[in-house]
Amino acid sequence: MVYVTRKAAFSAAHRLFNPTFTDEKNERVFDKCNNFYGHGHNYVLEVTVRGLPDPETGYVIDLKRLKDILDECIIDKVDHKHLNFDVDFLLGIIPTVENLCVAFWQQLEGRLPSGELHRIRLFESEHNLADYHGEPVELVRWPAIAERQFEGALA
Ligand code: NI
Repeated sequence: MVYVTRKAAFSAAHRLFNPTFTDEKNERVFDKCNNFYGHGHNYVLEVTVRGLPDPETGYVIDLKRLKDILDECIIDKVDHKHLNFDVDFLLGIIPTVENLCVAFWQQLEGRLPSGELHRIRLFESEHNLADYHGEPVELVRWPAIAERQFEGALA
């Protein structure tokens, strides 16, 4: 088995909060990432695909093709966006680095022309990252996340 990885970077804003917590608790739990109007991160995404090299091409997956799929399924949707509002497949999800890994996996699953998705690694900063290998994880959606933030912003 051979593992190939494509790396991609994007910048996005988010606000971490749970609409059922009080403001004080959100502040305590999510700290800087609870900033009212959101704040930005320079994310680095690594997607690893495993498989056997094709005898005719030597590829597990054509990395140019993988780049195009990543752009279409993830990067074009999240780059320079606010993750709480702008991204259809993230609506209602608390956009932690952990949850983003799971959501990105779900976007990519079934889209690869060859090989199997092996790992999603996402750096939220130089020091903080999450790895996901596709084990079952329930991605909880809080429909009030976008609504409540909008109410607060307009008040
Ligand atoms: Ni943050």
